Amino acid sequence: MFLKTGAGTVEGVPADGGSEHFYREGGARRIMSVANFPDEILSFLQMEGLTVLDVASRHRCDSLVELGCYDGRALEVAKVANMSYVGVDVNSVAIGSLSRRIAYEGLGEWARAVLGSIRVSEDWVPEVRGERPLLLLPFNLIGNLDEPAKFLAELGGVGRLGVISFFNDDAWTTEVRRAYYTACGIAIHEEGPGTHGGTLFRGDGGFRSQSFSVRGMQRLLEAAGATLVHETSNRLGCCIAVRFSSVPSGARA
Ligand SMILES: C[S@@+](CC[C@H](N)C(=O)[O-])C[C@H]1O[C@@H](n2cnc3c(N)ncnc32)[C@H](O)[C@@H]1O
Repeated sequence: MFLKTGAGTVEGVPADGGSEHFYREGGARRIMSVANFPDEILSFLQMEGLTVLDVASRHRCDSLVELGCYDGRALEVAKVANMSYVGVDVNSVAIGSLSRRIAYEGLGEWARAVLGSIRVSEDWVPEVRGERPLLLLPFNLIGNLDEPAKFLAELGGVGRLGVISFFNDDAWTTEVRRAYYTACGIAIHEEGPGTHGGTLFRGDGGFRSQSFSVRGMQRLLEAAGATLVHETSNRLGCCIAVRFSSVPSGARA
């Protein structure tokens, strides 16, 4: 159980510091629209899809859980790898689109689209099928979370294996990210050091996203009780496979 209550508000204050609010209210379309991606992003996403396929095959995973799936960006990978699929996203338009795609392609037996917060386990854990799920945190989703170590530690209660895709702390990557967020129409009002060795951007509507240094990610995994099992990287970032601890570590972000 991650949180007993949902990602709602307490006296009007978004419970997670605002990032979910940004995505729920239309930010998702801006951030995930391919039209807003600088060309450099495409190889990063390609690396991510191929890594998921590779890890799923090496570890004989039988289901893919895409956390922050938008319109089901990893659904094709699950189809090729013959895994069942659950996509979870806080944005209702994106989940509506994924639901229609699942229905249109006749995939309803083994694919699900869940509208909800990844931080609220009741929203999506009951939909996870299979004995060896692979938990995917795609496209720097980890950089949107306020308490990433706590979240990773809690994932151990759902499955043992995860894939985390994240931007690195290179100055060139920060330039590409700045161009990307600007193309999304986000007014950036803060850019500076993040809590895990990378660069944190904050923007209008509650947008926040940080990148990670190698050391920062190592520390994050340690705090979460997770261990690295596989790593792929390119100029923009890394895609790592990790094994989660089944014992909650009481991690702090
Ligand atoms: C995969 S992340 C992309 C992050 C972006 N590339 C960056 O650099 O910050 C965006 C997707 O995750 C979803 N998302 C973000 N936070 C979420 C949460 N707490 N629960 C469910 N979906 C979430 C958004 O709605 C959106 O579709």
